[in-house]
Amino acid sequence: MRARGAAPVGGRGVDLMARASPLARPAVATRRAARVAVGAGGGGGGDRLGLEPPACGAREYCVGYGAMARSRRVVPRALDSSSMHAPPTDDVDWDNLGFSCEHVSKTMMFVATATLGADGQTWEWKEEGVGPYGALAMDPSAQCLNYGQSIFEGMKAQRTMEGNLVLFRPSENAKRMRDGAARMSMAPPPEDLFLRGVKATVAANAAFVPPNGKGALYCRPLLLGSGPILGLGPAPSYTFLVYCSPVGSYFKGGQLDPIRLKVEEVEHRAAPGGTGNTKCAGNYSPVLNVQLEAKQRGFNDVLYLDAVSNTYVEEVSSCNIFAVFGNKIVTPSLGTILPGVTRKSIMDLARSKGFEVEEAPLAIDDVLRADEVFTTGTAVVLSPVGYIERGEEGREYQNTEVAMSLYEALTGIQQQTMDDPFGWVVTV
Ligand code: COI
Repeated sequence: MRARGAAPVGGRGVDLMARASPLARPAVATRRAARVAVGAGGGGGGDRLGLEPPACGAREYCVGYGAMARSRRVVPRALDSSSMHAPPTDDVDWDNLGFSCEHVSKTMMFVATATLGADGQTWEWKEEGVGPYGALAMDPSAQCLNYGQSIFEGMKAQRTMEGNLVLFRPSENAKRMRDGAARMSMAPPPEDLFLRGVKATVAANAAFVPPNGKGALYCRPLLLGSGPILGLGPAPSYTFLVYCSPVGSYFKGGQLDPIRLKVEEVEHRAAPGGTGNTKCAGNYSPVLNVQLEAKQRGFNDVLYLDAVSNTYVEEVSSCNIFAVFGNKIVTPSLGTILPGVTRKSIMDLARSKGFEVEEAPLAIDDVLRADEVFTTGTAVVLSPVGYIERGEEGREYQNTEVAMSLYEALTGIQQQTMDDPFGWVVTV
């Protein structure tokens, strides 16, 4: 169905692909190179899709969207999980992965577009398939550039000891993107399209999935109101894409180094009735001013308080938060915070280990008295907190025992080194 308030048919439904800016188009030779790479097939990472990731650097393969549409993008055929994936490429220093776009230019991405059907109600999705990662040519009046219809997901693919590539609870991300699309009046990508796009991206980039235990292939599904509109309203057309990058630990210092958080008491991340529970782009840049300042002072990130009473913790800019009090683990209730997939999984895991888990308002005063504090997120995984500062007051945390045991349990399931009693892991 059409998203609430979406533009009726007959709006200026300009086809972005047909209107790619010449500025974003690569030289003809480069586009030919991209076509060859897409159509080449053969071994390596793209074997299962008839694709081979381009071996050369970013710019050469930075094709504009229009050019990509004209090149023969490959629509993924059904994935056969019995065939082997490519091993990790030698092109990446797997021991020194950070959380960055360093290798993204060598990868492949999946693209699909949605336009309204003839009935003016139904979104029709067209899959462009997987092609080289590259720039999107976009009309300056694209909704997402002007009014911010832009939501995203974060997911990770891992390489197991047996050499399988696996995803963690991908249907949860598909659902959260659809929920976000409803909140933001955008065309919701159907679950099967979302999952096909993510799996095709992982399969096409198998060579960029780190060796077991050395990180993950971070996948970034993105939904953009890419169609043009001048007056305030939803876009007439949408682009769904999935790009990816091999990543290591999110915070500098290493995955399990306890992090330092600064409590922000003036600015707020979200308010009741707002979009704090939506993974929309607009939730992330407003936190940068305090985050950058905190980083300059040696903190890893900022901890936000509720906008009404400035009393209860909400979340960290990049992750959810938990506090441990003896056998009880408390995390802020949903409402203005992001409903993290890792947050939900950690609650289930903690209950299964016999902890009492509560979703409830969590006062900063109580957090500062807790036995242990940790944060969770897809990018972050699980990070113990070593220090929290509020105003003049600071609290060091020595204990990381609960955090460590939950980290082991979570990553054991995610990497298939432990049983998966919840059925969370999906093979690509
Ligand atoms: C994730 O954890 O996947 C996110 O999207 C958070 C982002 C700040 C990296």
